[in-house]
Amino acid sequence: MILQLSHVQTFIEQFHILQDVTFEVPEGEVTVILGRNGAGKTTTLRTIMGLTPPAKGSVQFRGEQLNGLPPYAIARKGIGFVPEDQGIFSDLTVEENLSLAMRKKDGATKTRLQFVLDIFPDLESKLRQKSDSLSGGQKQMLAIGRALITDNHLLLIDEPSKGLAPILVEKLAQAIREIKKHTTVVLVEQNFALASAVGERYVIIDDGHTVREGKMSQLLQDRELLGRYLGITANPKSGKVV
Ligand SMILES: Nc1ncnc2c1ncn2[C@@H]1O[C@H](COP(=O)(O)OP(=O)(O)OP(=O)(O)O)[C@@H](O)[C@H]1O
Ligand SMILES: [Mg+2]
Repeated sequence: MILQLSHVQTFIEQFHILQDVTFEVPEGEVTVILGRNGAGKTTTLRTIMGLTPPAKGSVQFRGEQLNGLPPYAIARKGIGFVPEDQGIFSDLTVEENLSLAMRKKDGATKTRLQFVLDIFPDLESKLRQKSDSLSGGQKQMLAIGRALITDNHLLLIDEPSKGLAPILVEKLAQAIREIKKHTTVVLVEQNFALASAVGERYVIIDDGHTVREGKMSQLLQDRELLGRYLGITANPKSGKVV
């Protein structure tokens, strides 16, 4: 297991947001965190990164305890985070945003830059443009691209499909399939078509608790679980966009 959360509890100010979050992430797979609005999905990613550190429980990366480490130290272990607000510098060009992510300008970094431009060809033609001129989908690609340029072993991505047109969701699915050849991915995703198309495993969080984890193929057959926690009542495979 590349990542293990065990009975994690997180407070934001006095609010007890994560009450018992326990799940495992196998290396080389895409694990999707599912759950309703306000369930605690973003807080789970932020807890892993040390941005809202856990008050109790443990977060282990490759068997090493992350609790108590500051976010920069956690990032340095090879964990990338693409937050929902994307965190890109809008007054810099696409190229400058990508350059800032390069800790070293060695051969491996250049190979990763080429990988980013291969999976997101839209970025290549926009390298010298200011990032605020990009479309929403292109900004999302840039945000993911930045995290890929660093030599990360694990990538946490928060709701990348939010607000994207179906054609871009399809591109995103293809990109995630390429990314997982090199990097383990934990994806928070409310678009169930995307989640089920790219995820091998799922974790459902409800009201600050993990209620179930397992193989995506099993979740797709579990109508009761889909209905109760995700509000999916129709055939989950109908209306698929990816
Ligand atoms: N800064 C904060 N102060 C107080 N409560 C917060 C804060 N941030 C989050 N919360 C609360 O914590 C709970 C979990 O929030 P979180 O953002 O992790 O949910 P989420 O599953 O990512 O939801 P969404 O699907 O809407 O993104 C929510 O009830 C939210 O209102
Ligand atoms: Mg969220």
